[in-house]
Amino acid sequence: MNDLWYKDAVFYELNVRAFYDSNGDGHGDLRGVIEKLDYLVDLGVDCIWLLPIYLSPLKDDGYDIADFYAVLSEYGGLNDLKLLISEAHRRGLRIIMDLVLNHTSDQHPWFQAARTSRNSPYRQYYVWSESTQKYSQTRIIFVDTQPSNWTWDEQAGQYFWHRFYACQPDLNYDSPAVQEEMLRVMRYWLDLGIDGFRADAVPYLFEREGTNCENLPETHAYLKRIRRFVNENYPGRILLCEANQWPEDVRPYFGDGDEFHMGFHFPVMPRIYMALERGQRQPLTWILERTPPIPEDCQWCIFLRNHDELTLEMVTEEERQWMWQVYAPEARMRLNLGIRRRLAPLLGNDRRKIELANSLLLTLPGSPIIYYGDEIGMGDDIWLPDRNGVRTPMQWQNTPNAGFSSAPPDRLYAPVIAREPYTPVRVNVADQVANPGSLWHTLRRMIALRKASRLFGWGSFTWADAGIDSVAAYWREEGPQRLLILNNLSESSHFVSLALPEVLGPEPIDLITNSKLTPASSSRLELELGPFEYRWIRFDG
Ligand code: BGC
Repeated sequence: MNDLWYKDAVFYELNVRAFYDSNGDGHGDLRGVIEKLDYLVDLGVDCIWLLPIYLSPLKDDGYDIADFYAVLSEYGGLNDLKLLISEAHRRGLRIIMDLVLNHTSDQHPWFQAARTSRNSPYRQYYVWSESTQKYSQTRIIFVDTQPSNWTWDEQAGQYFWHRFYACQPDLNYDSPAVQEEMLRVMRYWLDLGIDGFRADAVPYLFEREGTNCENLPETHAYLKRIRRFVNENYPGRILLCEANQWPEDVRPYFGDGDEFHMGFHFPVMPRIYMALERGQRQPLTWILERTPPIPEDCQWCIFLRNHDELTLEMVTEEERQWMWQVYAPEARMRLNLGIRRRLAPLLGNDRRKIELANSLLLTLPGSPIIYYGDEIGMGDDIWLPDRNGVRTPMQWQNTPNAGFSSAPPDRLYAPVIAREPYTPVRVNVADQVANPGSLWHTLRRMIALRKASRLFGWGSFTWADAGIDSVAAYWREEGPQRLLILNNLSESSHFVSLALPEVLGPEPIDLITNSKLTPASSSRLELELGPFEYRWIRFDG
């Protein structure tokens, strides 16, 4: 097996609850995912990221864990997970799952024990204080709902620390016992055959007075320890870092190749939307130019959307206001510092823009993650609270409950999208699979092209000058292979004229249309790009 598989893998983020309900109780489950594995193979993805499946009171949709060793019963049992892993592996798919290091649910037995007495051995598992003055330089993340990172616990007679909801007390990483506990948790799931973890909210593990309590050296030291643990015992398994930070602050999470294998590139994501709305490549050039190089064996993870709000933490205040104005004109589309909408509605359900965004997703440096449902252009439900509106049932067919479940509609964990043009009548897997002209087929072809060449995952990245700011043009190069990517970010057609390096052969191939291009000369490529058109042009030197 290739230990560096993640360098060119295509990832698929999947919410078990929302994917497929195999037993008709209205909730998706692990057996449901097993039934749909062939669909994922057909789409061409390599690795599934499962959102949290642990026992949980679901106050934060499973990111509030009450038992790190148990699967939520609605999803099935451990045997179902084992079966899912083996069925996935049999098909050449890998599976990673969420590892929530930073906090537990307040229902976790550790917290229940900790709050009963200062003498409990579990007291030190959490972070306590007599006052709310400690760590006052720390920002609040869930600004819409949390007035403070401290909450008073009556039973404990002290305040406890939490970076997210008050039902999610932070673990205390100064406690050696906590550090050991989490290694044990990792061992448990890795022994079951999981291919790695998407490590949740890692910047916040430690707290230190006088700092903003993010990205601290102590945090990096512990993360290096868990990487050593994985290297020594589970080579080939990966750690994917969720650090919603600027590139220079994410860079240390790769260390010298001794911390995370992968890290989400948060700041590039809103800039894809900015570039598309302004019809200008500058937001992308700006952020990629200030992205430092990472060690050879590491990889960025690029995404367009995920299960959270489209975060606007990594933009300026002015840019945030502008993004809200254009992409979230109604107040209920906003949440915290972000936008709680899905890809297709954000892009006005404009097929050209959706494809173009995917062209960027699949060709910028890094491995792409597709959020379930975005491959068919699913809509959202802004009338559901929190981030639930982007977590609705997967739309498999134009049948009751979108083919997601056989339960009565009022038993579903969330209603199927009921607003046009996103209802299952118009948006569903079966119809798109049957129609070669569908978004699903286009995306599938793009994934297949990507997988046919190493240069997407391994190749270098260089901006090219297409002579016009509306076109994001770049070279990806690996060995003798060269690929020129052209993305017209604007609604107008543009004539593009590009200098070609001498060494290139005379007959470039347009991968998207699978046709030969005939450049006017061996030193220039000139062509017309239609509104929002993208080209992937291969030159073999
Ligand atoms: C997850 C969120 C979750 C939070 C707290 C995140 O970064 O993506 O869905 O609410 O961590 O666990």
